[in-house]
Amino acid sequence: MRIPHSKPFLPPADDYKAKVDEIWQNGWLTNHGPMLRQFETEVAEYLNLSGVSFLSSGTMALQCALRTLERGGEIIVTPYSYVATAGAVFWEGFTPVFADIDPVSLALDPEKAAEKITSKTRAILATHVYGIPADVEGLESLGAVVSTHATKVFHTANGGFTVCKKEEDRRQIDLYRNFGHDGPNRFASPGINGKNSEFHAALGLTLLPFANELINRRREQWEHYRDLLFGHSEFRILEIPAKTEHNGAYFPVLGLSAQRANRVIGVLEEAGVEARRYFNPSLNKVPYLKGGACPVSEAAAESVFCLPLYHGLTGADREFIADIVLKNL
Ligand SMILES: Cc1ncc(COP(=O)(O)O)c(C=O)c1O
Repeated sequence: MRIPHSKPFLPPADDYKAKVDEIWQNGWLTNHGPMLRQFETEVAEYLNLSGVSFLSSGTMALQCALRTLERGGEIIVTPYSYVATAGAVFWEGFTPVFADIDPVSLALDPEKAAEKITSKTRAILATHVYGIPADVEGLESLGAVVSTHATKVFHTANGGFTVCKKEEDRRQIDLYRNFGHDGPNRFASPGINGKNSEFHAALGLTLLPFANELINRRREQWEHYRDLLFGHSEFRILEIPAKTEHNGAYFPVLGLSAQRANRVIGVLEEAGVEARRYFNPSLNKVPYLKGGACPVSEAAAESVFCLPLYHGLTGADREFIADIVLKNL
């Protein structure tokens, strides 16, 4: 038996096939067809927001969002994230400036971020770590960028979207994602191919009715892990701040020494359980990103690991995994 770290939820195949039949009838595969437009509308309704643009990946969505800022200068980022975030900042010609994370939430520490603000700062890019909203109170938000990659709680296989507060930003991103076209043979702006296909939108539309169920199930699973592992003096469970809704995306084990974390990961591996270091390395250590020291993030990157968590993971699986963790500290 092998228990992977994550597994995408798949809706009933017939639901997806019905959408594919529609694509066949429409004969429209990409370039912002009816399926993609409908998906954007339904995502906006689900989120109770407007200004949603669906793109080919979360990274592309981030790059197009960054392009709406004045070029050059610095963007303050967390070192404790996947490389796509700081990497996109670098790729778009900004200097990523790392501010260390809060040792409890492991999200960007707002005070440390404030200390890094200079006359060259263009924006602060806050990442919502482990499915818990970052502390963005007090920041003037331009919008949100979401990845719908297959590893996410809600996914479209590949994809991502931007949610813009200002209509002009949304219009600009819609130009960027489509080579700058504002009509046939007309180019109002530079642009790139950030388009996503009707098939990805169809998968999103098929999954959207399951979104609440997916989040609720993840939270139940998350709480089950917490009940199994809570109160142990050797390690810590992530605290969910009061009045905060999380989506149970990951279950990290915090606070072990790097050596003990390695031992537990190794024993889990021998038992066929894939525990993953999320996030490693600390991004200030990535050679081309050249960040200064971020001791809290660096220590977390060496010790934190996440337990398997996905829709089909059973209660017995979680008990099996928790038992191994507790017996091998
Ligand atoms: C924080 C963060 N930023 C960016 C990305 C990149 O998204 P995508 O894989 O859709 O390009 C991901 C997910 O992989 C992520 O977790």
